[in-house]
Amino acid sequence: MLICIPDVLSKNDVADFRHIMSTQQWEDGRSTAGAQSAEVKQNEQLPPDSEVARKLGQRVIRALTANLTFISAAVPLHIFPPLFNRYRPGQFFGDHVDNCVRGDHMTGLRIRTDLSVTLFLCEPDEYDGGELIIDGARNTPPIKLPAGHLVLYPSTSLHMVTPVTHGERICSFLWLQSMIRDNHARRMTFDLDNILQALVTRLGRNDPEVRNLTSIYHNLIRYWAEL
Ligand code: NI
Repeated sequence: MLICIPDVLSKNDVADFRHIMSTQQWEDGRSTAGAQSAEVKQNEQLPPDSEVARKLGQRVIRALTANLTFISAAVPLHIFPPLFNRYRPGQFFGDHVDNCVRGDHMTGLRIRTDLSVTLFLCEPDEYDGGELIIDGARNTPPIKLPAGHLVLYPSTSLHMVTPVTHGERICSFLWLQSMIRDNHARRMTFDLDNILQALVTRLGRNDPEVRNLTSIYHNLIRYWAEL
């Protein structure tokens, strides 16, 4: 499933991120690419181990874990330290699949990449091109979201970023391991949670059927969760 979530970062936060990033040295993005993706990757990134990247990454993770839609959609177990990349005119990232397992040598964290996240840190009118295309756009149109919004999609998807022809595309991206490995199961708990929240608004938490449905929701998570 592919889900877009608005306003994960405020415009003020985005401006602060951009200001901090503008003072940094960027490096060739191939340092974090696998063998296949390195051949089709042309972009720049903040050095992943730099203090600035780590601090901004922690701010991204705090924003994600405070966002109830994100928690419900991703059911995150481990979130890999976010990375930050920049595409300038002529730069792109051809079709590739993300590495299935990621290890972070600084924290010792090792995760199975179930879900990928791109968090946009620039407005769509700041650049031309640079669209994120997932699974050859068979199921979803090219993605280019407002600053502070994110897209969450299965890491099993082939995906690409089309060449930027003007301006700069600046994003944060990350991977996570979900407590619920199966995409279909996770989709169902997300849909159920959305319906449940609507019923809570209409009927209150202590309506008998709402209470029963809440119990079923928790039992499904309990049944599927791997910790
Ligand atoms: Ni990728």
